[in-house]
Amino acid sequence: MTSILVLNGPNLNLLGTREPATYGHETLDDVERTCRALGDELGIDVAFAQSNHEGALVDAIHDCRDRHDGIVLNAGAYTHTSIALRDAIAGVALPCIELHVSNVHAREPFRHHSAIAPVCLGVVAGFGVRGYPLALRALTERLTG
Ligand code: DQA
Repeated sequence: MTSILVLNGPNLNLLGTREPATYGHETLDDVERTCRALGDELGIDVAFAQSNHEGALVDAIHDCRDRHDGIVLNAGAYTHTSIALRDAIAGVALPCIELHVSNVHAREPFRHHSAIAPVCLGVVAGFGVRGYPLALRALTERLTG
């Protein structure tokens, strides 16, 4: 069965209470429920994880090699800084979609640069937490043809 990891980086555990004008009121648990329900609908396995630590995110990406076929990654602020995450994505050579709840390009200039976009299949940004099911559908289509 096709399997996708939805991986979340720093501060995304605070979704629902963190800057709600920017990130909305839904929690990461709500997002996980939505993703798992969509997985059932699409007939794919969906795993879900979050870490505030860059090295743990690198480990989670490495662990995908024998377990998952693709990754939806909201790397949070590490998106803009982490060459380690970029190298991890390139290293495992699995299709990855970069995801952001907010439209990072309409925000501060430091959010306009992505270290990971060049090694990702595509980017979903600005659709709120609705972006998670959008990215999952897009990646599933790519994986299952
Ligand atoms: C974010 C955007 C990042 O710039 C920010 O650092 C986050 C969340 C988003 O989902 O919109 O933590 O990735």
